[in-house]
Amino acid sequence: MTKFAFVTGANKGIGNEIVRQLAEKSYHVFLGARNEELGQKAVQSLGFSNVSFVQVDISDTQSIQNSKNKILEVTDHLDLLINNAGIALDFGILPSELTLETLRQEFDVNFFGTFQMIQTFLPLVKKSQGGKIVNVTTDMASQTMFDNGQAGQLNILGYNSSKTAVNSLTLTFGKEFGTNGPEILGVTPGFTTTDLNGNAPGGKTTAEGAQIIVKYALSQTNYNGKILDKNGIIPW
Ligand SMILES: NC(=O)c1ccc[n+]([C@@H]2O[C@H](COP(=O)([O-])OP(=O)(O)OC[C@H]3O[C@@H](n4cnc5c(N)ncnc54)[C@H](OP(=O)(O)O)[C@@H]3O)[C@@H](O)[C@H]2O)c1
Repeated sequence: MTKFAFVTGANKGIGNEIVRQLAEKSYHVFLGARNEELGQKAVQSLGFSNVSFVQVDISDTQSIQNSKNKILEVTDHLDLLINNAGIALDFGILPSELTLETLRQEFDVNFFGTFQMIQTFLPLVKKSQGGKIVNVTTDMASQTMFDNGQAGQLNILGYNSSKTAVNSLTLTFGKEFGTNGPEILGVTPGFTTTDLNGNAPGGKTTAEGAQIIVKYALSQTNYNGKILDKNGIIPW
């Protein structure tokens, strides 16, 4: 039976590579992008018959609803929802200098957007045997790792705290789901060189970053309500 996955923010970066790797595993992948032209181009350049474009701006309730309707034309269930879309607007900005407007924008996409994606697509994920939701997070959102120096040390309040809030979605929805499925988990790819960080050198390639996320997305082990990096479960 065909397996279905929806990946947001997949016109470029890590999300685009997640789509490629899932398509190679024979998933039918809905490649989500907020910009129609960029999304269609990304589908074309991947060149898989089992990848199709779905427009979604996760900061827009109507857009999320439209994307659900589009997916429902093809399938009544989703085996994987990968909440990958995200923004970081405060690189190089100290907490004392961060504007409320920038902080709100980051929460709008990273937190409120991911929250709405989970609520909207939950009925489809529940219809799949072993359905999973993966929230892409960062080690800097782990309060413990950020405090003790195990995580990257960029003190970017807007990005980091909005991803900490995403981790809270993972924990709380995970508590609701319990052990009977569906599963929800957070995964950090670790520092990966992409547009998000101005293509800062020294990071993983997008293929390497995506591989970590795909590994957990396809794992038979139940990681419901946990956050993980390449080595396993990480602290909150
Ligand atoms: N790169 C890293 O080191 C790193 C580390 C840890 C976690 N992450 C996480 O990994 C995920 C992917 O990031 P990336 O590094 O691949 O960055 P990226 O290349 O900048 O890709 C981000 C993607 O999210 C999309 N997006 C932004 N706002 C959106 C919205 N409102 N609705 C729908 N899509 C939206 C972007 O679309 P546009 O092209 O239209 O802007 C783009 O497709 C993010 O959640 C990020 O926080 C990255």
